[in-house]
Amino acid sequence: MKRIAIVTGAVGGIGSEICRQLIKDGFRVVATYRLENENKAKTWQNNLIQEGLNIDVMPVDVSDFTSCSDLVNRIVSDIGPVAVLINNAGITDDATMKNITSEQWHNVLRTNLDSIFNMTKPVFQTMCDNGWGRIINISSINGQKGQFGQVNYSAAKAGIYGFTKSLALEGARKGVTVNSISPGYIGTKMVNEMPQAIIDSIVKEIPIGRLGKPIEIANAVKYLVDEHSGFITGSDLSINGGQHM
Ligand code: CAA
Repeated sequence: MKRIAIVTGAVGGIGSEICRQLIKDGFRVVATYRLENENKAKTWQNNLIQEGLNIDVMPVDVSDFTSCSDLVNRIVSDIGPVAVLINNAGITDDATMKNITSEQWHNVLRTNLDSIFNMTKPVFQTMCDNGWGRIINISSINGQKGQFGQVNYSAAKAGIYGFTKSLALEGARKGVTVNSISPGYIGTKMVNEMPQAIIDSIVKEIPIGRLGKPIEIANAVKYLVDEHSGFITGSDLSINGGQHM
């Protein structure tokens, strides 16, 4: 039987590439999406199926604990136990301290950090009981170095490191690895929605001289979920073109 992997925020640029990679590597992938993106998610699913990549799609609100545990219960009863969790869902809502509202703060913290707990809690014990599991949390270069106008996003992404390292200790003797990946600026909708002048100024800070590609993040996921990566836990892989070392 194929191992089951959940990828949250799957319909986005990085999530899509992660799904493709995991399917090609023999996992049965459940891609999650926000309920308001139902039509987009179904179109996305059809496109993948046309590429020859079979994938399940299911809605979840990662900021809500009950929604996450309901999703996992549904997967366990319909398909089987979850072996791999890629916590990829995330949003930005950038604003300087002068302008940011409490709602912008809490919304980003709930979606980008509470979500990691909400999705992990319902799968972790089963992974331990089964003696094998892989959890990968997608953080960000901006959780490492901070970014002008991103107190909410940077705080959430930095919080992921503490979560990852603490849970890695709990999973270490159970065959469950917990790692993070910190992408730099990748050429996805999230980055391309910024004003062009800001994108240009960021690219000037990247020694490799370009934005990253989603496949370059998916390739790190492939590496960390591999059977022979069982000695890597509590680590972070920074993939940022040399922008932050
Ligand atoms: N450092 C210092 N000062 C800066 C600055 C910087 N990087 N950027 C702008 N300022 C200054 C401006 O010159 C301006 O100064 P004055 O008030 O003296 O004129 C002041 O700060 C206000 O700046 P803005 O006009 O930019 O303020 P704004 O409210 O219009 O915009 C912002 C704020 C929306 C946060 C905008 O600066 C912005 O979009 N910044 C980029 C944030 C960013 O990198 N987001 C990443 C999104 S992608 C992502 O997050 C994925 C990932 O993981 C990497």
